[in-house]
Amino acid sequence: MPSLNLSLEDGQSYPIQIERGLLKNCGTAISSLVPPCHVMLVSDENVAPLYLETAAESLKSAGFTVHKKIFPAGEPTKSLPVLGELLEAMADARLTRTDLAVSLGGGIIGDLTGFAAGCYLRGIRFVQIPTTLLAAVDASVGGKTAINLPQGKNLAGLFHQPSAVLCDPDTMGTLTPLCRADGAAEAIKTGILGDTSLFELFESEDRTAADTDYTEIIAKSVAYKAKIVSEDPTEKGVRKLLNLGHTPAHAIEILSSFEISHGHAVGIGIAMMTRAAKKVGIIKNCDAERILDTLRRNNLPIDCPFSAKEMAEIAQSDKKAANTSITVILPEEIGKCRMEKIPRTELEQLFQDGLEG
Ligand code: GLY
Repeated sequence: MPSLNLSLEDGQSYPIQIERGLLKNCGTAISSLVPPCHVMLVSDENVAPLYLETAAESLKSAGFTVHKKIFPAGEPTKSLPVLGELLEAMADARLTRTDLAVSLGGGIIGDLTGFAAGCYLRGIRFVQIPTTLLAAVDASVGGKTAINLPQGKNLAGLFHQPSAVLCDPDTMGTLTPLCRADGAAEAIKTGILGDTSLFELFESEDRTAADTDYTEIIAKSVAYKAKIVSEDPTEKGVRKLLNLGHTPAHAIEILSSFEISHGHAVGIGIAMMTRAAKKVGIIKNCDAERILDTLRRNNLPIDCPFSAKEMAEIAQSDKKAANTSITVILPEEIGKCRMEKIPRTELEQLFQDGLEG
């Protein structure tokens, strides 16, 4: 049963538990950290029919009083009106500062629930139960919460660390091939950043097959992320590395009106940053080819349907653009990337290099 603690600089820490079958015992796991209280259990219309009752029953058996809120699946749920609806549901349920929010779902539900928990009564505790591979390997860990604004993705949000992350790899068994590939993109990203053995799991085999046991992949991904977040919880420095591929990816998601999912856009973004790094001699051809082949092998797109100019225009408003410069992440080899601060005016050329290669 892989389990680790993410330690924060203020001395606090929280457990990340990865265990097959954990969902049906989530109430017991949570009660060892938070005394029984009122819980707002938040999910979406895809996940709720599969797992909501299992989670709710486990919480009730452990003594929690459960309130449920289910939202439509999909990116439009990360919006101001939905955030307002969730905050009002918390108020209707009379949650107090000692109560709890629990997200049961993918990154969208986790981001929304975490944000609501972070601002309701100026902050209540929350627990992440990721049910998608993407949320398990990345989004559920590290306390980033957000909603989108019409002007851009994740433009409103806060850092609010969960009290625990409880991951049951068996919930990945019902994911669509597209969802498995979404998660693969973030795990491959982590491998390129700092774990060659994780990258090689995806290099050696298509890990988006239906019968994949994701326990090891999640454990390796989360171990790397926990290390980075411990060092830099609010992304002042080293945590920026986790944005490999994300500057083009956010532009791709927006330009496609979210028809291209986050993980698929990250796949294209990693491919673009790899080609751009190859063009200027930062990464050897053979390592670049390994990255592109591994993305392809795991059913991820590597070609971008948009122009460098239109992507650069969107990326100008990306929240990571500070004043006249923007930090981009470029792979140097498998397991090592670098941060480069470039003038915003050079972003279009960088994207162009990323489209050609
Ligand atoms: N998904 C990138 C991060 O949590 O920093």
